[in-house]
Amino acid sequence: MDFDQVIPRLGTGALKWDGAAARFGKEVLPMWVADMDFAAPAAVQAALAERVAHPIYGYPCGGTAVLAAGANWMERRHGWRPDPAHMLLVSGVVPGLFAAVRAFSEAGDGVIIMPPIYPPFLAAVQEQGRELLMAPLQQDRNGHYQMDWERLEALLPHARMLLLCSPHNPSGRVWGQAELQHLGELARRQGVLVVSDEIHADLAYADHPHIPFPRLFPDSLLLSSAGKSFNIAGIGGAVAVLADERQRHHYAAELRRSQIHEINLFALIAMIAAWEEGGAWQEGVRAYLAANAHHLGQRLAAELPAFGYRVPEFGYLAWLDLRALGLDDAAIAQRLCDAGLGLNPGPSFGPGGAGFVRLNFGTPRALVDEGVARLCRAFGGK
Ligand SMILES: Cc1ncc(COP(=O)(O)O)c(C=O)c1O
Repeated sequence: MDFDQVIPRLGTGALKWDGAAARFGKEVLPMWVADMDFAAPAAVQAALAERVAHPIYGYPCGGTAVLAAGANWMERRHGWRPDPAHMLLVSGVVPGLFAAVRAFSEAGDGVIIMPPIYPPFLAAVQEQGRELLMAPLQQDRNGHYQMDWERLEALLPHARMLLLCSPHNPSGRVWGQAELQHLGELARRQGVLVVSDEIHADLAYADHPHIPFPRLFPDSLLLSSAGKSFNIAGIGGAVAVLADERQRHHYAAELRRSQIHEINLFALIAMIAAWEEGGAWQEGVRAYLAANAHHLGQRLAAELPAFGYRVPEFGYLAWLDLRALGLDDAAIAQRLCDAGLGLNPGPSFGPGGAGFVRLNFGTPRALVDEGVARLCRAFGGK
């Protein structure tokens, strides 16, 4: 578990590294797409290597073991154990999110999201012919994001579903008990189904414990995976939890119709190994990321004080507010490109994203420092 080790990824077919030149128009230090530059847990590597050593890669079985491993993991990590009988396999969290919109709403129905948000949330609603109802998050004077209760109350009577990102990418928030409780009560009062994407949950820092939404509201749909938590996003695979039997059968039928109700051989093996044996690695990576988040904050405060940055409450995504620089998004992108740094542009996260960029610090500290050096080059830091 040497998270300081820089492991070259160029030439491995990694979207983040090998795909960066096509995306940004030149070679950059890639601090964009959400995976980390750390070796996966040794137990995951060993389990995959053992299976790869057997030369026949036919259809797998063993879905039940994956669901049990996932339920046990959630209990150990978050103190809440879903009933494995209430769980379904899905090929990925995003396919599961899209399928939920198809299963539980019809063309023209309203679906609420809270931008700025991970772009597939916007696509899941817009590209499937539903009405996008937006309740943008609000920042308080310290840059801390909050839900807009007034707007949510106004929109809920017009909605069938609400897509919650918990924790929230890119705002950095891990929603607290009172916020989740209030949201769930408002939604329940209007008969609105909450779909909670909790893929980042395991990466919640120690001072911001994550609360699984269905622990408070069992009538919701949870989607999660081991992809972010154990840095195995390219392998795929996810799980859904839905307690209500009728709704679960309805959702399972949609997953089957779309043929996204199974996971591949390697996902099966990696997910079981991660959930059963990856606990210590996961704790280690979380501590390293929290230290990176603070380190980044110190360097930005010292060298780029005009940047708005709040230490996030989970994971490796820094949501940087550059509005004080007075540059438009095209100028920000150009300066980053000239300085050789690949970040996600804020506008891709929907309303509230203009003037922001998202920086992925899930990388050895030496590369975080290199990223800050390039930010200074781009924006004239001290
Ligand atoms: C909130 C959120 N959901 C889902 C995903 C991707 O999920 P999957 O790869 O399982 O489709 C990401 C990846 O960045 C994410 O940030």
